[in-house]
Amino acid sequence: MPTTRLLTPDDAPELSRLLLRNRAFLAPWEPVHPDDWFTPEGQRKAIQDVLARHAQGLALPHVVLDRDGAIAGAITLTGIARGAFLSASLGYWVSADRNGQGLATAAIAEMKEIAFGDLGLHRLEAGTLEHNTRSQRVLQRNGFVRIGLAPRYVRIAGRWQDHVLFQVLNEDDEAT
Ligand SMILES: CC(C)(COP(=O)(O)OP(=O)(O)OC[C@H]1O[C@@H](n2cnc3c(N)ncnc32)[C@H](O)[C@@H]1OP(=O)(O)O)[C@@H](O)C(=O)NCCC(=O)NCCS
Repeated sequence: MPTTRLLTPDDAPELSRLLLRNRAFLAPWEPVHPDDWFTPEGQRKAIQDVLARHAQGLALPHVVLDRDGAIAGAITLTGIARGAFLSASLGYWVSADRNGQGLATAAIAEMKEIAFGDLGLHRLEAGTLEHNTRSQRVLQRNGFVRIGLAPRYVRIAGRWQDHVLFQVLNEDDEAT
């Protein structure tokens, strides 16, 4: 059974409940969100926005499912670039009560397969905070390698924070 599927507008209430329950758990790793972003209406709006970018070929938003098929998190490819770059950025989170079951590891493997298969991409990138070793391990288990440190790269938890950058390349691509 797949661990992820495309996000839909109907997921808004369940995502809102899950994000509210995980607000404190996710806060150190996320941009600051206003209170209304956590409501079903706020999530409906956020889903509409990302699905519009999906329709333009710029994003691929999936939810992560647990073994019962309930939503356990989200994983999204953003900034899908074509042309000579064929690259995208990967972001993800899994609900605290379902951490440590291999869900993020499996979800990243699935997104990688879609990215290098159907989407025909050459490269995926992910950035983690320096002390987010848990996230670094799920990336490394999926073949991502550290490529450097980006100073003050993303505004996380209200501060421009350094990120360790990782990438994985499509090994099927020829060198030329
Ligand atoms: C980082 C995060 C996504 C990890 O999610 P997760 O679902 O717990 O990750 P996994 O279960 O795949 O891997 C975590 C551990 O579970 C273990 N595990 C248990 N069952 C497993 C299985 N069947 N397959 C693979 N790993 C398994 C792994 O060994 C791993 O332990 P280790 O890293 O100490 O070796 C999650 O902690 C999270 O959402 N954190 C907050 C947000 C965040 O940091 N997002 C990423 C920003 S860069």
